[in-house]
Amino acid sequence: MEKFYLTTPIYYVNDVPHIGHAYTTVACDVLARYQRMNGREVLFLTGTDEHGQKIERAARERGLEPIGLADQVVERYRQLWVKLNISNDDFIRTSQERQYRAVAEIWRRVKANGDIYLGEYEDWYCVHDESFFTGLQDEKPACPDCGRPLEKIKEASYFFRMSKYQEKLLQHIESHPEFITPQTRKNEIVSFVKGGLRDLSISRTTFRWGIPVPDDPGHIIYVWFDALANYLTGAGFPDNDARFSRFWPADLHVIGKDILRFHAVYWPTFLMAAGLPLPRRVFAHGWWTVEGKKMSKSLGNVVDPGEVAARFGVDAFRYFLLREVPFGLDGDYSQTALVGRINSDLANDLGNLFSRVLAMVTRYRGGEYPSAEIGPEEKALIAAAEKARDEYHRLLPELAFQSVLIAVWELVGEMNRYIDRTAPWNLAKDPEKKGRLDTVLFTSLEALRWITMFVSPFLPDSGTEMLKQLGLAGSEWNRDFSFLSEWRKSWPPGRVQRGPALFPRIE
Ligand code: MSP
Repeated sequence: MEKFYLTTPIYYVNDVPHIGHAYTTVACDVLARYQRMNGREVLFLTGTDEHGQKIERAARERGLEPIGLADQVVERYRQLWVKLNISNDDFIRTSQERQYRAVAEIWRRVKANGDIYLGEYEDWYCVHDESFFTGLQDEKPACPDCGRPLEKIKEASYFFRMSKYQEKLLQHIESHPEFITPQTRKNEIVSFVKGGLRDLSISRTTFRWGIPVPDDPGHIIYVWFDALANYLTGAGFPDNDARFSRFWPADLHVIGKDILRFHAVYWPTFLMAAGLPLPRRVFAHGWWTVEGKKMSKSLGNVVDPGEVAARFGVDAFRYFLLREVPFGLDGDYSQTALVGRINSDLANDLGNLFSRVLAMVTRYRGGEYPSAEIGPEEKALIAAAEKARDEYHRLLPELAFQSVLIAVWELVGEMNRYIDRTAPWNLAKDPEKKGRLDTVLFTSLEALRWITMFVSPFLPDSGTEMLKQLGLAGSEWNRDFSFLSEWRKSWPPGRVQRGPALFPRIE
C-alpha cells in the first residue's frame, strides 16, 4: 500500500482560530480523505506552534503562564477540528516531549555537520511575525509584512550556515518542478534565493519560552527552527524508525503564501544540513479577506469558522471555501456569496436532483432498485460521468479543488438534462415503457452513486447521508474509488430510503 503524508502548518496559540486557519485545514482534510479513498495509507498531521516571544507576551498580558494560554487555545483548535469534521491522524503540540527530543536531535545533526556556529546578532525583528528584516533604512522601521513597529535586537546567537546551501537549494528547485507550487510562488522563491542567502540566527537569549539549545541552555532555539521540525516529529523522528522510514519524506506541506519562505528556503536547507530527505511538495494558497477588507481584530471582522458552520452547515462551509476561489489565489468571504452558493449549487442543483431521483424510485418502483439496459441516452451520460472521474483524479492531486468541483457539477447538470430529456414521469404513464423507465431510474441511481463518491471528501456528512438514502450504507463498494472503475447496470437487491433534504434552502 502506498503512503501519503500531508501536513497543515501548526497554528500559533496566541490567537483563536479563524477562517484562514480553517481554510488550510479543510483543504488538507479533503486531500486526506481523497487519498484514503484511493487506497493510500494516509498520515494527516496538524497541530499547534506554542513557543516563542509572541506567545510568552500574549500569555503575560492575560496573566497566564505560556503553557496555560497554550492549553486553552489548543482546546479551541481541537474542538473546531472536530466540528469541521477534520480527519487528522495526529495532533502535534510543540510543547510536547516528543518535539523537544526531535528538535534537539536535529540541532545536534546540523551542528555535527559543521553548520551551526556562535556569533553575534543585530537586526530588526518583528515579534508578531517572528521574523527578521535587514537593510531597513528608517530609524524606526515598521514590519514590511504586518506594519507593526520593529524592535532592534543585539545578542549572542547561534547561526545556521544557510549561505552554504544557496546553490544546492537552487539546483533542487530546478530539478524538482513540483517542489514549490503554484508556479508563480516558485518564481518568487527562486529570485529570493538568487538574491543571496545569509546565515540565519537560530537562537535567542532574550526570552525563555522554548526549547533550549543542547549543551547551552541559556539559548532558546529560534521558533521557526523548532516549528518546522514538527513535520519530522509527527512522522516519528527520531525514536520511531519504522514510522519514520514509512512516512518521511512528507508528500505535501500545505501552507499560506505568507509562510512560504520558511517552508521553501529555511526548511529544505535545515534538512540538507541534517542529512535528511526533503519534502516532495510545498503548496502555498492565497489569503481571504472578509467583505473586501483585511481580517483584523480591530476591524472586528474576524470570521469564526465554528459559528459559520453551526449556522449554515459544516459541509456548506467546507464547500464554499474550496469552490469559491481557485486554490492559490486570494479570495473574499462574504455571507451573500456563501448563501448564494448554498442555494444554487447545493440546494438547487445537487439537493434537488438527489431527492427528485429518490422520489421517483420510491413512487414508481416502491423504492426497489430496478436494473438498466444501456441505450444512446445512457451512453452519453456514462461518458459524462467517466469524463468527470478522469478530471477528478487528474485535478485533485494538483489541489485544483475549484476545478474538481466544477467538473462534478457539470455531471450534476448532465444528469438533470438526462432526466428532463427522458421524462420518466411520462414513461410511468405507459405500462409498455416499463423497461425504459427501469433503465432511466437505475441509470440515475448509478450516476448518483458516482456523484456521492465524488463529493464525499468535500462533504463528508452529506456523503454519508447520501449513501444511506441510496441504501448503500452497508455496502462494501461505497467508500473506495476502485468501485468507480466500472459503470453498473444493476445493484444487489435493495431499496432507497428517502430522508430529509440534504441542503435546505436558506432564505
Ligand atoms: N505558526 C506558524 C506556522 C508554522 S508551520 C511550521 C503560523 N501560524 S499562523 O497561525 O499564524 O498561521 C497559520 C496559517 O494560517 C498560515 O498558513 C496562514 O497563511 C494561514 N492564514 C492566516 N490568515 C489567513 C487568511 N486571512 N487567509 C488564508 N489563510 C490565512 O504562521
